[in-house]
Amino acid sequence: MLEGKRVNLRVMEKEDLPLFAEWLNKPEFIGEYNPLRQISRTEIEKDYDKRSLEQTGFIIEKKDGSKIGYMWHFIVVHPALKLLEIGYFLVPSERGKGYCTEAVNIMVDYLFLSKDMIRIQACTELRNIASQKVLEKVGFKKEGTIRKSIFNRGEWKDAYLYSILREEWKEPKILTKPQARAAHI
Ligand SMILES: CC(C)(COP(=O)(O)OP(=O)(O)OC[C@H]1O[C@@H](n2cnc3c(N)ncnc32)[C@H](O)[C@@H]1OP(=O)(O)O)[C@@H](O)C(=O)NCCC(=O)NCCS
Repeated sequence: MLEGKRVNLRVMEKEDLPLFAEWLNKPEFIGEYNPLRQISRTEIEKDYDKRSLEQTGFIIEKKDGSKIGYMWHFIVVHPALKLLEIGYFLVPSERGKGYCTEAVNIMVDYLFLSKDMIRIQACTELRNIASQKVLEKVGFKKEGTIRKSIFNRGEWKDAYLYSILREEWKEPKILTKPQARAAHI
């Protein structure tokens, strides 16, 4: 468990998959700027069983244990590099309260403390201001536009690529050192 002040990140377990399937199939959870998809629980279970250590999903939980969202890190395949990327979703009723900003801060601390990576990146549709604000508040910088990279509601949309470098992060903002050591093990 990665513990923050108002939210925790807990590695997703098989028991979470029914709720996860329910979330993924709800357009209001996915949001208007991300591709619509309908996926069966069986497919989700297969994906879960195939996942590698480099691709891990986390449930975002409030301190009372209520499940309010999902965040994951994964590797983007590139001919020369291994690019570590994150993504996140919150249930609509818990948006706009700063929870995602804290969850991204926790994830960035965790990834830089536990993995020998020099950068973490995220992509967001041009109109997704809430997501861009989250990234900027955590210290991500906008690198540029990936043109026509998201197919959503019948149209190809441009996205911004954001990243934060290890040297910009400098030190953990939320995770305490003993906790971070435990997460690494
Ligand atoms: C993106 C998302 C995770 C942000 O979560 P969140 O918990 O609401 O984020 P926070 O509360 O930490 O911060 C959001 C910021 O955006 C602002 N914001 C939210 N909606 C906005 C809008 N339509 N226009 C401008 N600013 C907006 C909030 O006011 C807040 O800024 P502030 O702290 O300066 O007030 C959430 O909106 C979501 O789940 N969206 C659907 C899924 C999605 O798009 N995921 C990202 C894929 S790249």
